[in-house]
Amino acid sequence: MLNKDELIAEAFKAMKNSYAPYSRYHVGAALQTKDGRIFHGANIENASLGATNCAERSAVFSAYSEGVRKDDIDSLAIVSDGDEVCGPCGICRQVLSELINQDTPIYLSNGKTELTSNIFRLLPMQFGSKDVLR
Ligand code: THU
Repeated sequence: MLNKDELIAEAFKAMKNSYAPYSRYHVGAALQTKDGRIFHGANIENASLGATNCAERSAVFSAYSEGVRKDDIDSLAIVSDGDEVCGPCGICRQVLSELINQDTPIYLSNGKTELTSNIFRLLPMQFGSKDVLR
């Protein structure tokens, strides 16, 4: 199993594959499963901008595509080359609120500042399946 610093290093490796010709803002993510598998993600842009895929969604969707489910996920690192750590965007917060557990550690880093959070703290008052599946 990778420790926090090693998982963050994996996210920086993933960031090298960022395709961001429009924003030039590069993001990488690395998701670790409880059995030690690592799934990488980078932000992938296109000219519509709206159909851009963020790095953390890329990593989570990649893991889910291989059969991983929320209880299998140990931790997630998200890194960027911005001046501040990259707090997940609103769309990603919604996705993470449903696809990873509430207390799963989320490590954020830009190489200078580092913080640990979870989706329960990042997205209060969540809208989710409890509201829709009545
Ligand atoms: N981006 C991410 O990859 N993750 C986030 O949570 C915030 C935004 C990407 C999307 C876009 O390619 C660029 O950063 C600027 O918004």
